[in-house]
Amino acid sequence: MNGTPVDDLYPDHLRTLMRRTDATLDALKFDALVIHAGVPPVLFLDDQDYPFKVNPHFKAWVPITDNPRCTLVYVPGRRPKLLFNRPDDFWHKPAAMPTGRWTEALDIVSISDPKQAVEHWSGLGRTAQIGPDFAAEAVANPKELLDRLHFDRAVKTPYELACMRLASELGARGHRAAYEVFRSGGSEYAAHMAYLSACDQREEEMPYNNIVAYDENTAVLHYQRLERAQASPARSFLIDAGAQFRGYAADITRTYARNPGRFADLVAAVDEAQLKLCEEIVPGRDYREVHLSAHRHLGDALHRLGVTRLPGQAALEKGITSVFFPHGIGHLLGLQVHDVGGVMDDQSGKERARPEGHPYLRLTRMLEPGVVVTVEPGLYMIDSLLAKAHADERRAHIDWAVVEELKPFGGVRIEDNVAAGAQRPENMTRDAFAKLGARRAA
Ligand code: GLY
Ligand code: MN
Ligand code: MN
Repeated sequence: MNGTPVDDLYPDHLRTLMRRTDATLDALKFDALVIHAGVPPVLFLDDQDYPFKVNPHFKAWVPITDNPRCTLVYVPGRRPKLLFNRPDDFWHKPAAMPTGRWTEALDIVSISDPKQAVEHWSGLGRTAQIGPDFAAEAVANPKELLDRLHFDRAVKTPYELACMRLASELGARGHRAAYEVFRSGGSEYAAHMAYLSACDQREEEMPYNNIVAYDENTAVLHYQRLERAQASPARSFLIDAGAQFRGYAADITRTYARNPGRFADLVAAVDEAQLKLCEEIVPGRDYREVHLSAHRHLGDALHRLGVTRLPGQAALEKGITSVFFPHGIGHLLGLQVHDVGGVMDDQSGKERARPEGHPYLRLTRMLEPGVVVTVEPGLYMIDSLLAKAHADERRAHIDWAVVEELKPFGGVRIEDNVAAGAQRPENMTRDAFAKLGARRAA
């Protein structure tokens, strides 16, 4: 299946979605489902739109991410129908009718006004609709229906896996380009712009805001500033940036040290731990255990590098690893960068609890074949968390001189996208970088 053109995989993907939806509609006694692409919000007191972010349920069915006011109508037993919005608008350029091979799998109707869409789905019986804009006669965003679809969505179809591999390949290109900017002394902003250009995607097409940080900024988990003028050359570089293919996300982080030394050793230690954790992405593994395993591996690394005075398990028990690794080990990935359904026990939406003391973990499920997750261990020198540890009994277990030495370098995170394959984990990110390397060498 690996290497099959995505268009060849799409019909089967659609059949899977239809099968899942049939079961859900039947269980909840609905006759039809209507999914709205959505409408971009308008700026306050202005006549401009915010960038359009399509309803993820909509792009699950059709690879259209940039055309608001479309609608998908599905009635079990019939072909899905796409109502494609082409307004008569001389201010903007209407989207061209889709023509890819994927379009053969469903019916497509052009509409010039979203009000026309309602004619296509009124009188279908008890209808559920998903999205931000509604017509009164259908049930809007029923929780039971969303819970079921969200739970099912964690298991990717071969089409979705192929899209995600391609998103990773785009991201790898961007990462290489941004690294070259760092090496040559360019700013965070310059690295960000080089990233976008290498991915050939606009900023608004990115699945999330790029995190492009040098030096102390690398310790800010969701750093957003993009400095244009900084002391150069930077000591360290953390870039967390993805890309999307047909609406499916990549979410990739790399960290670099300019020179050898303790920070470079820390980067190597996190990388080594990360690779071990990727091996844990196998069916039947409880992702909560992967998170706790990350604490042990990272705790051991901190101990080995002289930052802390206790090995991993003891450091985890005393809350020391959380000072340096305050976020979860990862999350579901797919149509959204933090894909929904991560803390569900089953289709009913019942919550599957996080381990006590780990409130930021976004994924607590058992892994199954086809589930795609991120694996993103990190170690950071964060002033506010260090100050808390300094003020309590954890103080004695940390070497504060080493902490001071590392602070100017900020933090480390290494993040890959990994599918729990039936035979072995598939590391889409490392595969993408390897492919890029092979192409360069050729
Ligand atoms: N890029 C956000 C995250 O890694 O979760
Ligand atoms: Mn992530
Ligand atoms: Mn990330």
